[in-house]
Amino acid sequence: MSKIKLDARAKINLSLDVVARRDDGYHDMRMVLQSVTLCDSMTMELTDGGIEVGTNRHFIPNDERNIAVKAARAFMAETGYSGGVRMGIEKRIPVCAGLGGGSADAATVLRGLNELTGAHLSDEKLCELGLSVGSDVPFCVVGGTKLAEGRGEVLTELSPLGSVHTVICMPHFHVSTPSLFAKLRVGRIRLRPDTQGMIQALERGDVRGVAVRVFNVFEAFLPKREADMVQRIKGVLNDSGAMGSSMSGTGAAVYGLFETAEAAQTAAEALSGECREVFVAKTIN
Ligand code: C5P
Repeated sequence: MSKIKLDARAKINLSLDVVARRDDGYHDMRMVLQSVTLCDSMTMELTDGGIEVGTNRHFIPNDERNIAVKAARAFMAETGYSGGVRMGIEKRIPVCAGLGGGSADAATVLRGLNELTGAHLSDEKLCELGLSVGSDVPFCVVGGTKLAEGRGEVLTELSPLGSVHTVICMPHFHVSTPSLFAKLRVGRIRLRPDTQGMIQALERGDVRGVAVRVFNVFEAFLPKREADMVQRIKGVLNDSGAMGSSMSGTGAAVYGLFETAEAAQTAAEALSGECREVFVAKTIN
């Protein structure tokens, strides 16, 4: 086989807690991460040489700055694969949204190259390579419902959430991940997610128990205007019947979890006017 087509799934943070600032410039995290059906579509084809990438978004670089190229380089350095690869990415996941779009692409490159070249690297090795490219890549390599600690690479399998209707809203602004981390003061975090309670709710199969515990400490560190907008979107999601709502990652995407497809659709329609993009998706194992 020399060509493959794969979905690169987005993630949402069911919870996000920052435990400590580290000496290496990163933070120790404690988060429950969940894959969703919203995805980019990738095609990958082995070639004689070089790494090529093209996307349907003119503002995404197609050179070494592209995280998919970085992932391919890391794979080649590890395995010694000396041929090339041509990658096409149809982006649907909004960029810089807290949905792990770039990380999902990078993880899919690692998985795809592993399959195409027959390298048979283990998931652990792919996660290790992924971490060298970005903190959320290891989770995207495996997906599902996981507790993520350390930078995000210490992954613990949790009871899967299953398929829950999810509305994902991308507001008209972006949040820079490094600058929001820089603004965060761990000592000033007043409210934290009930991560243990969420894990227990997952074990009981109690979707509502999970949904009422979704929480992200970064919401309290957003600039006022952005914080107000996130609150407003969450308000509309909740008024439309969401069991719970939260910002994902460092934002600015906000999601709500719904009991029924009808409620999710109603919420998506209510928000379509004030968000840049609204997606109706599902969580997925
Ligand atoms: O690893 P990644 O490239 O996704 O991280 C982007 C930036 O986010 C880092 O440079 C760092 O400022 C911040 N970050 C952090 N702690 C983490 C993950 C990311 O401080 N666990």
